[in-house]
Amino acid sequence: MSTISQDELKTLVGIAALKYVVPGEIVGVGTGSTVNKFIDALASIKHQIKGAVSSSNASTERLLALGIQVFDSNDVQELSVYIDGADEIDHQGYMIKGGGAALTREKIIAAQSKQFVCIADESKLVATLGRFPLPVEVIPMAEQRIIRQFQAMGAQAQIRMCDGHALVTDNGQHIVDVTHLQITSPLQFETQVSQWPGVVTVGVFALQKANVCLLGTPDGVKTLTF
Ligand code: 5RP
Repeated sequence: MSTISQDELKTLVGIAALKYVVPGEIVGVGTGSTVNKFIDALASIKHQIKGAVSSSNASTERLLALGIQVFDSNDVQELSVYIDGADEIDHQGYMIKGGGAALTREKIIAAQSKQFVCIADESKLVATLGRFPLPVEVIPMAEQRIIRQFQAMGAQAQIRMCDGHALVTDNGQHIVDVTHLQITSPLQFETQVSQWPGVVTVGVFALQKANVCLLGTPDGVKTLTF
């Protein structure tokens, strides 16, 4: 019996997302290993689109290397579609994002897009958000206070490290990863934590939830709509 790998599932959903790209327009492009598959597929139709708005330096580099023009989000008013992965997605289209530390730019582009198409393999589908450590981008001078605020909620939080130092995001800030959370009310949670001084972006995407999820499964790509 042949089994399909997680990498192959990512390729399948990356290709499936092409049908949501509007010819002649600029497409919003997220970040991560699943989106990399989408970017590679996008190269096959690059002459049919104007270009992309990108959520990270990594995606920008990949897009440019494949000959896809990258626009500044400030130069684009509205995008028809934003295509991005997720660390978790629930049955309402609420997501945890930021495993690749690009959550702030991802939320900005999602907010300027009419439709958010999430591409993910089936391991990302959950009943309740919170199994994956929740990324929160923070201003460094506030990080210890923010960690204590999460601890007061009964969670645990730590600064994301890279090569022995705090990871620095594309925006020059740090990431706090929060565990031991059960996010039963994503909208309320996002609204509450977003108000804490020093929080740049919380990785719960409830206000900017997915409209569609292309879920890679061994039986093929399933389309969930929310
Ligand atoms: C990056 C993200 C990614 O969408 C998320 O981490 C999923 O990545 P992958 O496709 O590699 O599993 O939010 O900040």
